[in-house]
Amino acid sequence: MVSYKDLGLVNTRDMFAKAIKGGYAIPAFNFNNMEQLQAIIQAAAETKSPVILQVSKGARQYANSTLLRYMAEGAVQYARELGWEHPQIVLHLDHGDSFELCKDCVDMGFSSVMIDGSHLPYDENVALTRKVVEYAHKYDVTVEGELGVLAGVEDDVKAEHHTYTRPEEVVDFVTKTGCDSLAISIGTSHGAYKFRPEQCHVDPATGRLVPPPLAFDVLEGVMKELPGFPIVLHGSSSVPQEEVDTINKYGGKLKAAIGIPEDELRKAAALAVCKINIDSDSRLAMTAAVRKVLAEHPEEFDPRKYLGPARENMRKLYIHKIVNVLGSNGKAE
Ligand code: G3H
Ligand code: 13P
Ligand code: ZN
Repeated sequence: MVSYKDLGLVNTRDMFAKAIKGGYAIPAFNFNNMEQLQAIIQAAAETKSPVILQVSKGARQYANSTLLRYMAEGAVQYARELGWEHPQIVLHLDHGDSFELCKDCVDMGFSSVMIDGSHLPYDENVALTRKVVEYAHKYDVTVEGELGVLAGVEDDVKAEHHTYTRPEEVVDFVTKTGCDSLAISIGTSHGAYKFRPEQCHVDPATGRLVPPPLAFDVLEGVMKELPGFPIVLHGSSSVPQEEVDTINKYGGKLKAAIGIPEDELRKAAALAVCKINIDSDSRLAMTAAVRKVLAEHPEEFDPRKYLGPARENMRKLYIHKIVNVLGSNGKAE
């Protein structure tokens, strides 16, 4: 049993309370490899932003769960080395799908876990979330639950259509489970294809596709039922057009990739949304830089020559999110 406290990590409790009061959101960035982790820590240290390092079940399988855990411990030391005196870093399990997985993460030094029972019948979601909370809270690990289903793919769970969160269920869910934060469904979804072009209209100024707005009435309904309770938005990548264009210019084949407009995320962050999940944008930034270097320098075969620029592109992306979208810069001096 390793306590996250001994690794210099923190849970989400104070971080979320401050974010709600301050009208900003904490970035939750997924990582699977060293370059992503370096870029996240560099961006957070430079901007003095609290940050949530998210690890999915797939990331643990890809990178090895023990190694990832030590990387997160190393991240705290790295942040200090970069001159960030009091780093506020959470190590969080993204989309935990069983009690056993959540328990394993708590036992390995995670400071926060998500148990995603959103695809289950309501009572089963409550029972599973409750079980995880009972275990996690013994070690002061915070727990994110989910109500409502996002369109697209939620790890192994496929949902063809959104099922928005029902505000009339949230008080019962939070009371019965004791969860510390709640992920809700208001129209975001995972991946780089969040909307079909026929759902969008063309912005005459830019010629770009603008998706339909998020269901802010649902968010406001939830806030009315649960005043001051931390709300989480998954599927919040904006799918920057310039990264998509670069990927396609250098041999990629991404078609009509559409994300969540940044002004919608700013609006959510000013309300009760205090954790915003971003993974796809980092994948796009990394892929765009790698494709560009390899296309322009086909003679190159030193991975540092293309993973270095990829890391730098992700660092810039994370700083942009922190400063211009979430507003979490300077909140962890
Ligand atoms: O919500 C899912 C995250 O983007 C993680 O994706 O399961 O492919 O690691 P992954
Ligand atoms: P994106 O695919 O929009 O980046 O969402 C990531 C996410 O929700 C991770 O849990
Ligand atoms: Zn997610």
